[in-house]
Amino acid sequence: MLTSTTTKPEPMTDANAMTRLEAAFADEMAQVNALILERMQSPVGMIPDLAAHLVSAGGKRLRPLITLASADLAGYQGDAHFKLAATVEFIHSATLLHDDIVDGSPMRRGKPAANTVWGNAASVLVGDFLFARAFSLMVETGRLRVLDILAGASSIIAEGEVRQLAAIANMDMSEPEYMQIIEAKTAELFASAARVSAVIADLPERQEVALDRYGRELGLAFQLVDDALDYAGNAKKLGKAVGDDFREGKITMPVAKAMQSASTSETAFWKKVFGKPERTKQDLDQAMALISSHNAVQLTLDQADVHIQNAKAALQCFEPGKTRTLLCDVCDFVLERSF
Ligand code: IPE
Ligand code: IPE
Ligand code: MG
Ligand code: MG
Repeated sequence: MLTSTTTKPEPMTDANAMTRLEAAFADEMAQVNALILERMQSPVGMIPDLAAHLVSAGGKRLRPLITLASADLAGYQGDAHFKLAATVEFIHSATLLHDDIVDGSPMRRGKPAANTVWGNAASVLVGDFLFARAFSLMVETGRLRVLDILAGASSIIAEGEVRQLAAIANMDMSEPEYMQIIEAKTAELFASAARVSAVIADLPERQEVALDRYGRELGLAFQLVDDALDYAGNAKKLGKAVGDDFREGKITMPVAKAMQSASTSETAFWKKVFGKPERTKQDLDQAMALISSHNAVQLTLDQADVHIQNAKAALQCFEPGKTRTLLCDVCDFVLERSF
């Protein structure tokens, strides 16, 4: 191997923040993955087949990693965090199966979305199965507060998805309303993923709330970045189609930002395009051009950065150390991923 004392240290990029987190919890994550594989089994063959299609395609496993890292930060000594990390990933997987039907999305984790292979009915039902398995797993921890948090999160996610559905093509949706929707559909699960570890570690209320805050702010940033990536991302790297939000008439932050400073003719374009039942490739190109000329992707990322800073600040009530640094650094990964 060639080595050189003059080689500059590798820059701390987004990618290696995630890699460092994965490496630090690789052994624990292997146990979580084994548990996930074990608990998605069923004698009804279509269930493990469909579930494996999604689960084996990978995904970042960011939420269960947050649960594991939070348990470590909290000084937790037992083994309930494995079950909770698996629970969180099961809830996430169930929502993805349902979400891809709702959004008519063709691709997930670099593969055809399960609904395009098995159909909507099978995807709904297997999603329900994964939700149910998530609940069995968390019951096994024997902690009522944990049940309260994760059951509450599951209903809040569903509310967020229903609110988003109801808001399709609603040009009057305000930014605070949009933020409430993404807090419900995405940030609530990140918040719970971190918070349940504080609960099983019997941390004082102040630190439990801080971990909730960390996950919530990170989740808000995560969804804002995801919404920016839908206009500016790379489908291959993301493993899902870009332009989905626009095609289905979902008004997300990049469009909201472009509309805020739109000229009269641009406002007319947005009204017309979101008033139609379907949007063409030409419509998308024009929308992209407006988003670009109004710097709306960057404005969305600037807003995500505010939440990233809040997430990092929430960790300040923990002693400095390796895991606190990892949780802090993964915030930068969330902000910079896949552009
Ligand atoms: C996708 O989440 C759903 C959103 C909240 C945007 P992820 O991007 O974390 O999905 P996977 O698990 O890595 O595939
Ligand atoms: C993801 O939401 C699903 C949930 C958060 C429940 P989106 O529809 O915005 O995300 P992608 O683009 O499908 O991953
Ligand atoms: Mg979707
Ligand atoms: Mg959706």
